[in-house]
Amino acid sequence: MSHADFTQMWRDLAPVGRSASSGGYFRQPFTSAEREVAAWFLEQCRSRDLEITADEYGNVVAWWRPEGASGPGVLTGSHLDSVLDGGAYDGPLGVVSALAAVDVLRDRGGTPGRPLGIGVFVEEEGSRFGLACLGSRLLTGTTPVEQARELRDRDGVFFLDAVAAADLPSDATPLRWEDLRQVDCFVELHVEQGRDLVDRDAAVGVASSIWPHGRYRFDFGGDANHAGTTRMEDRHDPMLTYAGTALAANEAARLAGQRATFGRVDVHPNGTNAVPSRVTAWLDARADSEEHLAALVAEVERSAVDRAAREGTSAAVTAESVSPEVVFDPGLARRIAAPAAGTGRAGWPVIPTMAGHDAGILSGAGVPTAMLFVRNPTGVSHSPAEHAAEVDCLAGVNALAETLERLTRT
Ligand code: HGY
Ligand code: MN
Ligand code: MN
Repeated sequence: MSHADFTQMWRDLAPVGRSASSGGYFRQPFTSAEREVAAWFLEQCRSRDLEITADEYGNVVAWWRPEGASGPGVLTGSHLDSVLDGGAYDGPLGVVSALAAVDVLRDRGGTPGRPLGIGVFVEEEGSRFGLACLGSRLLTGTTPVEQARELRDRDGVFFLDAVAAADLPSDATPLRWEDLRQVDCFVELHVEQGRDLVDRDAAVGVASSIWPHGRYRFDFGGDANHAGTTRMEDRHDPMLTYAGTALAANEAARLAGQRATFGRVDVHPNGTNAVPSRVTAWLDARADSEEHLAALVAEVERSAVDRAAREGTSAAVTAESVSPEVVFDPGLARRIAAPAAGTGRAGWPVIPTMAGHDAGILSGAGVPTAMLFVRNPTGVSHSPAEHAAEVDCLAGVNALAETLERLTRT
């Protein structure tokens, strides 16, 4: 791989699904933008003669099986979907770096002793159907298809109908978990979503763990009424119950050193001159232990229910997805992070993350798993402002190539 190859691939993807007004990305699963980046990935794989395997949900693993490679494979990759108005790097950096790392290894002329797969998992962000890492959850059986059958997007489209309407690769070899679970390990490269590597003055790091986290739907009910004629003291306004709960969640998380965010709200009927009848809001909560997460969510729920009782409204909470703590294989992390013998390269820092990843799902499903992080100068993510310097992206490609080279050595 030359510098130019990475840059070219990055340039190819840059306009797809990009908003002209914000500069952010809208690559929701099974929309035309996301299908375009998925088709771009397949084209890149075909041009490298990789063997494409795909499942019925749109997950793809493309294999490089050079002559002489045998035994359990080594898997890398990430996702191509984005949050609403997201950044360019969260997901695609891991996929493009995987393609570029294969090119580096090929250019070096060495032949990996094991097959090398590049995976792309659908709906990692849960931005359309609400359940984070839906593709890798279905692939691994972590979430049964019966549960996915119930999922709908904001327009009421069922997940399986969106899958059926998508142009999935039809000529691919079936991708089955009973085969994939045999891999030796999975390594996902990802842009860092914080500034830990900036503080440590390192371009690349290795993940130690993922904080437990979850999404919880809060349904607040009240009485629709006229915004002018209803006296303030006569109202049962669910917007107020929601607003008080959002403030309470922020305070609870701040005091406990955890995270709580209400980033999505749905108001009915959403009219300027009416007290609303219903507010639905989604809490994203994360904590440094499962016990702390449960305590945080319980405190926010208590606050919502108590307020509702005082304000003559109602509040009900439903957990929509909860991801347990992930501790990545410590031996694998140590092996990857260790200084490279003979090159003088220093070791890479090993750091935790508060963000969820398909790597967490594969780890939970029993695959020895690791992650590489690439420095993010501002730490901003899930935003059009998300960024990584090109020189750090290239350092990431080299780190991934070095890691895959070591792991595919038999
Ligand atoms: O939301 C997350 O933690 C991840 O970026 N999908
Ligand atoms: Mn993300
Ligand atoms: Mn991601």
